[in-house]
Amino acid sequence: MVGIDIGSNSVKVVELTREGGNYQLENIGESMLPSGAITGKSVSRGDMVSEIISNLVSTLGIRAKRVVIGISGEAVASKIVSVPKIFLRKDMEKFVPDLVSASLFRNVNGVNYSYTPLFRRNGRSKEVPVLIAAVSKKTAQGYKSSVSSAGLRARIIDIDAMALSNAYAVSCAVRGEKVALVNIGASVVNLSVLEDGTPLMLRDIPLGGQWVTLRLMDKFKITYEEAERIKCSIKGYGRYEEITSVLTDFATRAADETKAVLDEYGDGLTRVILSGGSSRIATMAHTLGEAMGAPVEISNPFQNIDVSDSRFDPEYIEHLAPKMAVAVGLALRGL
Ligand SMILES: Nc1ncnc2c1ncn2[C@@H]1O[C@H](COP(=O)(O)OP(=O)(O)OP(=O)(O)O)[C@@H](O)[C@H]1O
Ligand SMILES: [Mg+2]
Repeated sequence: MVGIDIGSNSVKVVELTREGGNYQLENIGESMLPSGAITGKSVSRGDMVSEIISNLVSTLGIRAKRVVIGISGEAVASKIVSVPKIFLRKDMEKFVPDLVSASLFRNVNGVNYSYTPLFRRNGRSKEVPVLIAAVSKKTAQGYKSSVSSAGLRARIIDIDAMALSNAYAVSCAVRGEKVALVNIGASVVNLSVLEDGTPLMLRDIPLGGQWVTLRLMDKFKITYEEAERIKCSIKGYGRYEEITSVLTDFATRAADETKAVLDEYGDGLTRVILSGGSSRIATMAHTLGEAMGAPVEISNPFQNIDVSDSRFDPEYIEHLAPKMAVAVGLALRGL
């Protein structure tokens, strides 16, 4: 199955196959999007996005046409509620639209919504956690059209934070632990807290590495592309201290905002797993660990997936891995 993570900064593709309980990596790739193609987590230039997807998929030699894509940001809202088992069987269909309009999106007609009972190891409880998720129809359509113009079909539209949870389940879940997954991208932070493998909450914060890029553009009067380049390899441009100070400000801000959201759910966190392109900021993991008071590990979503050394350069995979957590989770969702 092919997972396509259409981020604000790049499109990331992962193709996985499954044999019994074993997963295998078949294809992986990333292609940068021009600035302005995705704005505010919506597709602004569908033509650009579909061209990038189409080129990436054909360069990788992917033949499958059915894919899973993800959405995050303000077009998505979710809530995990505890529902009596008996209610789940009988009345859920009637109950969900009211719940969506009361606590997710007032205009139920403008969103697609769904509910998913969540797996729990101790299944004896009379209550079941149920994920209620709603996605703006307009935004979802933008992503779906970009994919279909690239000759593919979005079989499932998932939530990025849920994809993160699925990647965690396969790569490094530890029985009984309470963990926070933090994916810091270009324009959003995707968050998921899980206890013993069951999500307690999924949330997005509208903040990402673009904050740094915009500050550097403004400070040095340079283009978006130059600012991105300097941010990602800060040596060689000079003005090292000014650049690191912007990066440090961002790390502090991202850690503080994450902590503010996680505080509601954060008691007794065993660890924090950090992913996304902005996890590469040198001080990010440390700053987040200090704020959360829990050890931070950099995500490796391929930990329990067979990755052939002869087909894939291990260094390339290692470099890309933290950015691929969402794409891996999307591919897993379709298997
Ligand atoms: N070495 C690096 N140092 C600092 N920032 C980096 C580095 N490498 C990548 N980034 C930043 O990571 C961000 C991209 O991360 P990612 O690919 O996870 O985002 P995205 O999925 O495209 O965006 P989003 O999910 O927020 O819409 C960009 O802001 C990029 O500048
Ligand atoms: Mg992303």
